[in-house]
Amino acid sequence: MPPANPCAIPAAERLIVALDLPEPAAARALVERIGDAARFYKIGMELCMSPGFFELLDWLRGQGKKVFVDLKFFDIPETVARAVRALSERGAQFCTVHGNQAIMQAAAGAKAHGLKVLAVTALTSLDRGDLEDLGFQCDVETLVLSRARRALAAGCDGVVSSGLEVARLRAEAPRELIVVTPGIRPLDNREVADQKRVMTPTRALQAGADYLVVGRPIRDAADPRAAALAIQAEIAAALG
Ligand code: C5P
Repeated sequence: MPPANPCAIPAAERLIVALDLPEPAAARALVERIGDAARFYKIGMELCMSPGFFELLDWLRGQGKKVFVDLKFFDIPETVARAVRALSERGAQFCTVHGNQAIMQAAAGAKAHGLKVLAVTALTSLDRGDLEDLGFQCDVETLVLSRARRALAAGCDGVVSSGLEVARLRAEAPRELIVVTPGIRPLDNREVADQKRVMTPTRALQAGADYLVVGRPIRDAADPRAAALAIQAEIAAALG
């Protein structure tokens, strides 16, 4: 099943490199090493613990990069709305929200300046046993599909979803849903670590993912630029 809008997203922007690093200087160094092999970056919780998080966002924008701010907002609707409204001023492309209908609606109602709100469906590090621990009785696919439908109904633009659930999302959720897929592992780098529901770039794209989030396979590569280029080549090949 092809992505929702295959022509609308340039192939080179489908790879989102997760900058899971302790401080902005390390993130900038990695971005500079990767160079033109990536155009889209994700910054999140770890970097947010260091001074200079928003200067890094501004710097990335100045470098012509797109930015996904992955802070998984989860709070009372009013607080989430205020956070999303403030983030809208920063020029980021994507942010993430977690939680029920009212929280997602608050986030969607507050977004501006092209910021898109993605709802977290089920973390890719969770499997069925983990979800049962959290009190969910259904299987992962059913939960992800239900959360995706609710996210769109709330006015969100898309979801973050593991590659394993993308095909079902594409088959059953409305086509305008943006699907961002983390837990991507290239074939030559099968280190899974804490991600339980992983997939190759090719299979995730074929299933219908719009964007792929890749962290450790690039960050921890001996040559991060070469690792990013290899994934870009795989994306280009998968899209034909
Ligand atoms: O290193 P790795 O490629 O596993 O990185 C995955 C990235 O995707 C991390 O930054 C993590 O926060 C993020 N993520 C995820 N599962 C989600 C949402 C985000 O793994 N459901």
